[in-house]
Amino acid sequence: MNTILVTGGCGYIGAHTIVSLIEHGYHVISIDNNSRSDAGILHGITKITGVIVKNYAVDLCNFDETYAVFQENPSITGIIHFAAYKAVGESVEQPLLYFDNNLNSLMNILKCVAVFKIPHFVFSSSCTVYGNPAIIPVNEKTPLLPASSPYGSTKQIGENIIEQSLASMPFCKAVLLRYFNPVGAHPSCHIGELPIGTPQNLVPAITQTAIGKLPQMKVFGNDYNTKDGTCLRDYVHVCDIATAHTLSLQYLQNINTTSSCEIFNLGSGNGYTVLEMIETFEKISGTSLNYVIAPRRPGDVEAIYADRTKATTILNWQPQFNKEAMMQSAWQWEQQLKQNSDIFNTINAKLN
Ligand code: WQD
Repeated sequence: MNTILVTGGCGYIGAHTIVSLIEHGYHVISIDNNSRSDAGILHGITKITGVIVKNYAVDLCNFDETYAVFQENPSITGIIHFAAYKAVGESVEQPLLYFDNNLNSLMNILKCVAVFKIPHFVFSSSCTVYGNPAIIPVNEKTPLLPASSPYGSTKQIGENIIEQSLASMPFCKAVLLRYFNPVGAHPSCHIGELPIGTPQNLVPAITQTAIGKLPQMKVFGNDYNTKDGTCLRDYVHVCDIATAHTLSLQYLQNINTTSSCEIFNLGSGNGYTVLEMIETFEKISGTSLNYVIAPRRPGDVEAIYADRTKATTILNWQPQFNKEAMMQSAWQWEQQLKQNSDIFNTINAKLN
């Protein structure tokens, strides 16, 4: 039995990817120490797929514990490495936390790839490797500029570490996936984004404000050189991102790639501003969002969106969700979370 190891499997993209992998017949295990995730999401995966996924609550920065997982699972033939801290703003405030966690965890996984001769490796990279591009959309040959945040630097350095390490591991082929802005939730509402504390990302900030968990949302700057002064991003549904991971594994398994590392942009190919995303939310939800214009957020890129031609032609990746569907699924998920919380509070009140 071939096993796919998903690191960060209890995370937002990791969980959605596990669902896609299971639906395509893969056996999956997860490593996630739940420092930034909730193991409860595994129940949601089971509700969708009927499969109970084993998660090893291991810190990937601990090599011995990571190594032991590979010893216990000799059938691992592929790894999808998500586990990393990913908040742009937080990385500006705590750069060493990001370099320590994101790079040491990656190197420990690569050491295990070398020892256990794992043939397929998919890396969760990011459009932040492009920095503040002068020309958009960006494609995989766009020269990388200095990252605009330590988070982006960990992804740039991570890509370099993988490319140079794999040059010495001819048995392993890799795909580096540069995500743009993953948003939304699985249509079943059994899994979705679970920000810890105040959400850093735009869409959960919008939905938490709309549902009343946040008093007001801040729009970080409206003096950028864009159509309405707010930052422009390429939002892409998390289920489309998940599908791209399954397609990447199939690509690695079925095509004898010559290069050890292939890079793909995972963006919808459309750029929308913060205010356009707020407008889209207000349209699909029928609500008016309470937001205020605030100062720029350090580390933010002004405008970026993807040329996804390579992923479409080589991986046959076709994003299925438009921005209305992205926002709709995010809003339904937020409402589901509130309903679950209300039910829990009602039961709790009766028990006490
Ligand atoms: C988007 C825009 C904010 C919150 C993300 C991921 C990162 C990487 C790249 C995958 C910015 C504005 C946000 C708020 C706001 N993806 N915003 N008010 O910074 O592009 O980074 O995509 O690896 O992991 O974090 O996404 O959603 O934080 O911000 O105005 O309350 O929304 O200023 O312009 P970002 P984001």
